[in-house]
Amino acid sequence: MITVTDLKKVYYQGKREIRALDGVTLSVPANSVHGIVGQSGAGKSTLVRCLAMLDRPTSGTVEINGADLTAVHAAELRAARRRLGLVFQHANLFDARTILGNVAYPLELARVPRTEREAKAVELLGLVGLADAGPAYPAQLSGGQRQRVGIARALATDPDVLLCDEPTSALDPRTTDEILDLIASLKARVGLAVLVITHEMHVVKRICDSVTLLEDGLVVESGRLGEVVGRFGGRLSEALLALPAPDPASGRSVEVLDSVPPNDVAVVTRAERHFAVELPVVAGVVESLDGTTFRRQRVAVPDRLDVSELVGFLRAGGAGARPSDPEAVR
Ligand SMILES: Nc1ncnc2c1ncn2[C@@H]1O[C@H](COP(=O)(O)OP(=O)(O)O)[C@@H](O)[C@H]1O
Ligand SMILES: [Mg+2]
Repeated sequence: MITVTDLKKVYYQGKREIRALDGVTLSVPANSVHGIVGQSGAGKSTLVRCLAMLDRPTSGTVEINGADLTAVHAAELRAARRRLGLVFQHANLFDARTILGNVAYPLELARVPRTEREAKAVELLGLVGLADAGPAYPAQLSGGQRQRVGIARALATDPDVLLCDEPTSALDPRTTDEILDLIASLKARVGLAVLVITHEMHVVKRICDSVTLLEDGLVVESGRLGEVVGRFGGRLSEALLALPAPDPASGRSVEVLDSVPPNDVAVVTRAERHFAVELPVVAGVVESLDGTTFRRQRVAVPDRLDVSELVGFLRAGGAGARPSDPEAVR
């Protein structure tokens, strides 16, 4: 479990103060994957550096299983860092070392005896699906395979936290999904909390149990995936269930977010029956997330139906609803 409390990092550019992290609080329980998303400049890399203790936070604490990393003295920093495994966009392997030698490297730093560290590296290469790659060199591997090696290396010291910074940004879509599924599978390891920094909603949807939206160094939204997606109109909900922008020429429409079980009658269908109209779906997305099926739709509203009446009916039925163009309500 990793717990970040009121973490602040201030940089100075001349006299200008840049609050890269302005009081970030979040926690990631063991055996779960937490996503951190945010636009460029939001503070994601600063958060990674502060968590990995590559940079000292200005204030606040970072605790791994209750032990405060920010209180660790410089001399103990290396040992403390072993509790946290790091995976970056590129694996940055040592070209002159074998794959086995790369995975065993953190254990070499930790002065683990050769036979022990090689046995561990063999085990981890098996875990990431590269059981036979040990004697090979990085240049002989594909980008996806090198990333697997990077993940195995990050796990070498049996960390409590796996911190992945844009782990799939450099990979093609198919390899991305293979690596994401590998990362998701790791949360089953005893006591491991996985933190994934990403700008891709696909990553969040595929592997995250919970997610935090960071902006200007602040937490804008945070929660379990189902919770944030179900927050109609919320930034993460809109991003995770993205619809194309409404076409102004297409007339009046209403946006609906519904999470009824797949076998129940959808609220839009109930509205069609209630008002005896057809509500054609002009855009829609269905996603099963966090055990719930979410349906976000934009439906065209026929002229003879009052938009606010429809919105009222949909809301009364438990859905999120609003006119696509608030000006159009009449
Ligand atoms: N070493 C630094 N010195 C000054 N400002 C920095 C430094 N590192 C980051 N910043 C600033 O802090 C803010 C957050 O940056 P960063 O953490 O890199 O965001 P992200 O990774 O989300 O794009 C930005 O305004 C950035 O310019
Ligand atoms: Mg960054």
